[in-house]
Amino acid sequence: MRLRDCHNFSDFRRMARQRLPGPIFNYIDGAADDEVTYRRNTESFERCDLVPNVLRGVSEIDMSVTVMGQKLAMPVYCSPTALQRLFHHQGERAVAKAAAKYGTMFGVSSLGTVSLEEARKISSGPQVYQFYFHRDRGLNRAMMQRARDIGVEVMMLTVDSITGGNRERDKRTGFAIPFKLNLAGMLQFAVKPAWAFNYFTHEGFKLPQLDEHVDMGGGTMSISRYFTEMLDPSMNWDDVAEMVRLWSGPFCLKGVMSVEDARRAVEIGCSGIVLSNHGGRQLDGSRAAFDQLAEIVDAVGDRIDVIMDGGVQRGTHVLKALSLGAKAVGVGRYYLFPLAAAGQAGVERALEQMRVEIERGMKLMGCTSIEQLTRENLRFR
Ligand SMILES: Cc1cc2nc3c(=O)[nH]c(=O)nc-3n(C[C@H](O)[C@H](O)[C@H](O)COP(=O)(O)O)c2cc1C
Repeated sequence: MRLRDCHNFSDFRRMARQRLPGPIFNYIDGAADDEVTYRRNTESFERCDLVPNVLRGVSEIDMSVTVMGQKLAMPVYCSPTALQRLFHHQGERAVAKAAAKYGTMFGVSSLGTVSLEEARKISSGPQVYQFYFHRDRGLNRAMMQRARDIGVEVMMLTVDSITGGNRERDKRTGFAIPFKLNLAGMLQFAVKPAWAFNYFTHEGFKLPQLDEHVDMGGGTMSISRYFTEMLDPSMNWDDVAEMVRLWSGPFCLKGVMSVEDARRAVEIGCSGIVLSNHGGRQLDGSRAAFDQLAEIVDAVGDRIDVIMDGGVQRGTHVLKALSLGAKAVGVGRYYLFPLAAAGQAGVERALEQMRVEIERGMKLMGCTSIEQLTRENLRFR
């Protein structure tokens, strides 16, 4: 399969599957428990229909949005995801370059494989630092200071990962960092020599956001030990309020789902919330962000930027979320499969397809700007 054969999410997913060793493909593709939430994330968009208007003069389309003070040329951004150089040797560098080309925001994960500093140099576009809350408050402050010094615009604290989700696909293959593959997992690497050649002929694996502060090098600390030993399960609203004060710039919480939490996010001075169930990878059975969106927008949408992610595979999914009141929409696997399939060229192709789909969708809906998308355009089945 070649990149030019990829016309949508499923095509990229198929191409990624061909290229990646099974354990890595399943790490990206998998989710928690029975993967019910993962499936619902995309299905929830299908329960909602668009009602277009016609004859509105749509030759010029402006799909730009401003979210948390950041101007984005398109209403979709690359949500932070872990371990990208494992999927393709270009990793976060490819995503940062592609996001810059399309004038949008991208996130660098705490478990990113390229440093915040390097990503900052690659892209002049808005950069998000996805943060986990450590037991060591001094460490939290040092990491935030580092991000501020290099000019990261948005702090994004992930709040839905207070403990790890039950990813059964990873258990079956033995996927872990450092690798603890079982025999079946190893065989799946052996049948993808091109991936292995590529991986081993490029710079070695590292986690630069953590290496400086946590002894992750040489396999002394696994990611699962990092989660259990370094992160703080007692994190509460007061702790986060202090972080928001310290950062004193755009700060958002990723993984808020209830109205009560959305209100508290407003109270502690957050600039945004991302409705998210972590792509179905944490609490299986939790609601799809799209299904929860209207309730949250109605409660706090006039006081905080409401963003959502999860299951987005099409421009029309984005139009539906924006019509309900989301300010922007995050994507994860939508750009990860293209990254795995073809590096930067893959991510660019996926973002271009998204841009074209949004533009086409807006024209067919009779809208020339994002504000014109409203709930009048939607009907639920
Ligand atoms: C492989 C993978 C790794 C991820 N790593 C992180 C992470 O390190 N931090 C984080 O907050 N979210 C992480 N996420 C969640 C994404 O940021 C996003 O919420 C999710 O992928 C959205 O769902 P979608 O993949 O259906 O678009 C990850 C998702 C995937 C698929």
